[in-house]
This record gives sequence, structure tokens and C-alpha cells, in this order.
Amino acid sequence: SRKRVLFVCLGNICRSPAGEGVFKQYVAERGLDSEYQADSAGTSAYHVGEPPDRRMRQAASRRGLDLTGRSRQFSDIDFERFDLIVAMDRSNLRSIRSMDRQGRHQDKIKLFSDFVGDGFPEDVPDPYYGGRDGFDTVLDLLEEGMDGLLEHLDGGSRG
Ligand code: 4NP
Repeated sequence: SRKRVLFVCLGNICRSPAGEGVFKQYVAERGLDSEYQADSAGTSAYHVGEPPDRRMRQAASRRGLDLTGRSRQFSDIDFERFDLIVAMDRSNLRSIRSMDRQGRHQDKIKLFSDFVGDGFPEDVPDPYYGGRDGFDTVLDLLEEGMDGLLEHLDGGSRG
């Protein structure tokens, strides 16, 4: 069955929809649509029901990426539904880890920067209150981690 990955940030309007979009584009370009599924969620309910932030949609569209979907809040059910849960920063990582009260899902919870090399920031920086550049920085970082993320999901099965 398809491997399922969930990207998680605070608002689910900037970083995690972008992560989902970059991942889907990456997978599609490699003809791997039948192998992976992706979604995104937020640890907060601040923007539930809203589309991705306009500034993030504009930055993404300059890279040929159409960000769709509506913000939803991360829920307990997501621990069952996804094989890999990727937090965009350490604060969201802590939130997700603490929601797993019995500790049964800790192995599937990762920090996005686990998939990038040394020299990159630990956190995908929150672009919400900053300038336009922040959105491109997020996309650059996401693109940087996709090889490592796919390798991790693949579990070495592709060799
Ligand atoms: P995101 O960005 O977590 O990447 O979606 C944010 C969006 C909204 C807020 C913070 C971060 N907020 O505080 O409303």
C-alpha cells in the first residue's frame, strides 16, 4: 500500500502546505504517484478552514507549484493514519510528541531537518510575521530535504 506522510507546522497555512506541495511535485516528477500519499496539518487551530497563505502561494507558484487544501488541526487519528509525521520545527515536534500519550508512535515522528545535511537550520523558520524572502527560504529548505525524506520513506527498498 502507499506510504503516507503528514507535514505539520503551527498554522497549516505556510510551511506544511508548502512541504506537502513540494513533496507531491517531487514524487510526481519521478513517476512515483502510486507509491506515496501526502497531507498536512497544524498543531494550532488558528487558521482552520483557510487556504494556504497568499504569500506562500505566490512564492510556490513562481516555482510551478500550486498549493491547495484548507488548514486543519492535527488530531490523534493522524497517528494511526500516517506512516511518517514530519514536524517543521522543534516546537511543533514537541507538541506532536506530547500528544502521543502512550508513546506508541514516537518512531514515526521526525523533525524535517533530520533530512537535510549539516549546515542547515534545525527549524524550518516560521515565515508568517517576516518579509517576502522568508517564504522562498522555506521552499529552498524543503527542496533540500526531499531526497533524504524519500530515502527514509523508502526504507532502502529501492536499493
Ligand atoms: P505556519 O505559519 O505554521 O508555517 O503555517 C504560521 C501561520 C500562522 C501563525 C504562525 C505561523 N499564527 O500565529 O497565526
